[in-house]
Amino acid sequence: MELNILTICYLIGSITFILGLKMLSNPATARKGNLIAAGGMAIAIAGTIFLYKGPDGEGLHNYAWIFGGLAIGTIVGFLAAKKVKMTAMPEMVSLFNGMGGACAGLISIIEFGRVSSDLASGISLHGKLITIFLGVIIGSVSFAGSIIAWGKLNGRVKDFSFGGQQILNTIMLFIMVCIAGYLVFNITPSNAYLFYVILAGALVYGIMFVLPIGGADMPVVISLLNSFTGVAAACGGFLYGNKVMLTGGILVGAAGTLLTILMCKAMNRSLLNVLVGSFGGNKGGTVQQSASGGTYKEISVSDSAMVMAYANRVAIVPGYGLAVAQAQHVCHELEKLLDEKGVEVIYAIHPVAGRMPGHMNVLLAEADVSYDKLLEMEDANDLFKTTDVVLILGANDVVNPAAKNDPASPIYGMPILEVELAKNVIVNKRSMKPGYAGIENALFFQPKTSMLFGDAKSVLQQLVSEIKSL
Ligand code: TAP
Repeated sequence: MELNILTICYLIGSITFILGLKMLSNPATARKGNLIAAGGMAIAIAGTIFLYKGPDGEGLHNYAWIFGGLAIGTIVGFLAAKKVKMTAMPEMVSLFNGMGGACAGLISIIEFGRVSSDLASGISLHGKLITIFLGVIIGSVSFAGSIIAWGKLNGRVKDFSFGGQQILNTIMLFIMVCIAGYLVFNITPSNAYLFYVILAGALVYGIMFVLPIGGADMPVVISLLNSFTGVAAACGGFLYGNKVMLTGGILVGAAGTLLTILMCKAMNRSLLNVLVGSFGGNKGGTVQQSASGGTYKEISVSDSAMVMAYANRVAIVPGYGLAVAQAQHVCHELEKLLDEKGVEVIYAIHPVAGRMPGHMNVLLAEADVSYDKLLEMEDANDLFKTTDVVLILGANDVVNPAAKNDPASPIYGMPILEVELAKNVIVNKRSMKPGYAGIENALFFQPKTSMLFGDAKSVLQQLVSEIKSL
């Protein structure tokens, strides 16, 4: 009877997880989807704690440890999620993902301890050992890689690479797989220490794997590490014969893999290219002077207001700076004001604008911007030719024409918003500093472009009051 109730708990956990993932694909249902999946997981966890019986008919012990861990995790997670700024979300996701990888790795470590003591019994341990090694390698790579990604996103860790690094990484991975393969068939108490060599190797590999990948490629790496954590958790599910852990792990692994493929598509890159090319790394972090001598022109708030108020169509390009400035509400106010004056306003959304997938959609949804005003990159590019003004708000890399024109550029090949097709381009940012990829933007020096310097929120507030007074 108890087992049946536990099975039902697991079924609820699995179904709500699938349902939650489905609902996450739409901003309107995402919040509810998250809550539903979390609720289902809480039921599955409670079921495991109170109803699980091992092969010996015994339930779980160590309640103090279990509830102590749950309490610490809940408090830290709750406070971190409450306090985190929207722009620091990707860092937090990276850190949480790293914790998932660490948990999966720890499961393998504990289970390996048990396998070592089973050695004398003579039962075949091949299958179990394969799962343990997969779990420890993938989980540790995910943990170490995610911590480095977290450090890179918040600026604490700089890109680092040296000649032959990729070859060294490949050799390290090959050696780990060979040792694991050897141990699966030849494990004895005297060579069991090699497991810890694999563990250390996987941690070093995780660091070396993410360190050289920089700039514009971070979104791909983060979703890849996310899928690693899913696969590592699924290994834990295999080890314990726990169906909900298996389902959850496989779903996270599959969702992460799909996201990685979509991200690669958005950047027009193959995965191998991202992993081997250290694309988008800030090579030294200094901005080169533009070949044209770097002259740009500025525009005042009142002139910008005038140009926009008398336009037929204005396209707004939101970027990371809009999120930093938390200017989404006043941006929506500007949109409504222009709308009242008969100006058609659209938002052109680049798939990797900001710092996480869907960042701009979430940001604008927070300000109640209507979804049908948001255009995907391809659709926006078709409309720029007939657009009077493009207003770029804290975006940089996603409108950099070097991605199309300059084969030497580290972002060459990435599809961009082709804003220079419009009649006028107004760029709002605080300075001439580069964006995330650390490279200069030739768009700022083009004759059609005018720079409107200042913090996005204060500039938008001034624009709103100027347009009101027209
Ligand atoms: P970025 O290229 O990073 O440019 C943002 C610009 O915003 C900066 O040049 C900055 O210039 C400006 N800015 C910062 N604070 C501002 C403020 N308060 N007011 C006005 N402007 C401000 O952003 P993007 O165009 O959105 O491109 C995203 C980049 O991040 C891509 O390279 C992408 O690959 C990478 N990335 C994306 C993700 C995902 S999944 N979206 C994840 C990790 C990395 P100033 O300093 O001069 O103001």
